[in-house]
Amino acid sequence: MLYFQVVILAAAVMLVYYCEFTDTFSPAQQGFACRDPALTRPDPGPEQLSRIQPVILYSVVGGLPVVLISGVELVIFLIHHNSNNLYDQDKVVVMGDCCYVNPMVRRTFRFLGVYVFGLFATDILVNAGQLVTGSPAPYFLSVCQPNYTALGCQDVAHFVSQSDACTGDADDITRARKTFPSKEAALSLYTAVYLAMYVMSCIGTSGGRLTGPLLSLSLVSLAVLTGINRVAEYRNHWSDTIVGQVIGGAVAVFLVAFVVQYFKERPGIPRSPSDAGTANTDEASPRMNHTMETCDKDTAARYIN
Ligand SMILES: *[C@@H]1O[C@H](CO)[C@@H](O)[C@H](O)[C@H]1NC(C)=O
Repeated sequence: MLYFQVVILAAAVMLVYYCEFTDTFSPAQQGFACRDPALTRPDPGPEQLSRIQPVILYSVVGGLPVVLISGVELVIFLIHHNSNNLYDQDKVVVMGDCCYVNPMVRRTFRFLGVYVFGLFATDILVNAGQLVTGSPAPYFLSVCQPNYTALGCQDVAHFVSQSDACTGDADDITRARKTFPSKEAALSLYTAVYLAMYVMSCIGTSGGRLTGPLLSLSLVSLAVLTGINRVAEYRNHWSDTIVGQVIGGAVAVFLVAFVVQYFKERPGIPRSPSDAGTANTDEASPRMNHTMETCDKDTAARYIN
């Protein structure tokens, strides 16, 4: 039911809101070893001072899919507009008799809807991980400023588990405890993998042999660099970044594989008989048309009902 999906999405939005913009939930207080060398990096300051600023990261994560998916769908639609073969099965769908929605618009909203859902899911998973672990950042001791004398740190191996061990600024300490897994790594890789899979199945090799692969690899590389930058700026440990990337990549692969099988069913590109000699015409079109039908039943059941 559409209604049910709206409820799920609204719940996800509210959870994200409470995690991101309120301090309803505060991270666990994980202890630390006195003078642990892994936690004594200098404080890199608030996120706004990062080389990859939050405003840029979130603009890309939120805006690039809208631009890319709408653009590709528009191009596909224009190319096949007159061939009247592309969206045939899709037109029979599904909104009842009341309304006809342009199939390009519906496909675009479907891809973007699943994308947004996955984005919220990734964000919730990452926030939950950060709150549950409360794992200290590489600069934790710089902002915590524990009183080593009072804590009995003459013995180097001493482990501090008091929750009031820190004397530093409370907001900085909270920031330094929200590190595992890395949100920036997770969201950027989620976006990159989702878009790469979309590009590979919807553009494929049709824009020249290398367009799709090049675009996909660039996206994934940029996302991986975003994660590495977190470590380079002492904002995260390697483990934070890697686990964040695994979460983001896994959510994207899961959604594309099990929710949007639609991605795989690239509409068969109908060609005029004069084009019949070109490489992928012969084997591609009948198979594509076949999967398009099965796909249509599935997606109809999955999305709209
Ligand atoms: C640290 O704790 C000791 C012992 O409780 C106290 O004498 C000292 O003033 C404290 N130092 C700071 C910087 O708070």
